[in-house]
Amino acid sequence: MRKEILGVLCSGRGTDLQSIIDAIGRGEVDAEISIVLTDKPDAYALERAKKAGIKAVCVNRKEYSDRESFEKVLVQELRAAGVTLVVLAGFMRILTPYFVRSFPGHIMNIHPALLPSFPGAHAHRDVLAYGVKVSGCTVHFVDEGTDSGPIILQRAVPVLDDDTEETLGARVLEQEHIIYPQAIQLFCEGRLQVEGRHVRILPAKD
Ligand code: GAR
Repeated sequence: MRKEILGVLCSGRGTDLQSIIDAIGRGEVDAEISIVLTDKPDAYALERAKKAGIKAVCVNRKEYSDRESFEKVLVQELRAAGVTLVVLAGFMRILTPYFVRSFPGHIMNIHPALLPSFPGAHAHRDVLAYGVKVSGCTVHFVDEGTDSGPIILQRAVPVLDDDTEETLGARVLEQEHIIYPQAIQLFCEGRLQVEGRHVRILPAKD
């Protein structure tokens, strides 16, 4: 079977990226990361990639006048690196239809809440403000909306009375580090069948 080539996009510290690097190292994800891209020069994800021997490139959003010219460079870098699955791992930019159509059905995102509740950039803050008792994380395919694509995997965690954004975020992140590698491996095994909004997980092949 052809190995999937991952391009991982990050904006910050990159613990989700690290979980994927580690899962590949343990043989739990049968893929290769050919490039890590960030939109910020100080993203710690760049260091994590370099330590793992992965090409790391910053495409500094501040150096581009508009989203389209910024995204054109991202797409060029991903194509040049032979990427077959784009993995958004804490990438805090909304992508335009141009980017999404460049890799149709081949972009995944992880969101730190149980979608379709609490989309957007401040999920933990919004969860705590609303007063829900359960939160979690969601891996989904990316469509042209915001956090709206077909859902692949979810995990729930309790929200405690004395939670802060930090304590809740840490509890959710533990689950993110489990389900993101799992979802990528399901994709690599060809076991994700998308039918409209539904993602069916096909049984493992022998
Ligand atoms: C993760 O919690 C991820 O779900 C979230 O950013 C964090 C990145 O952490 N993504 C979003 O909020 C996307 N809208 P990391 O930099 O340690 O991987």
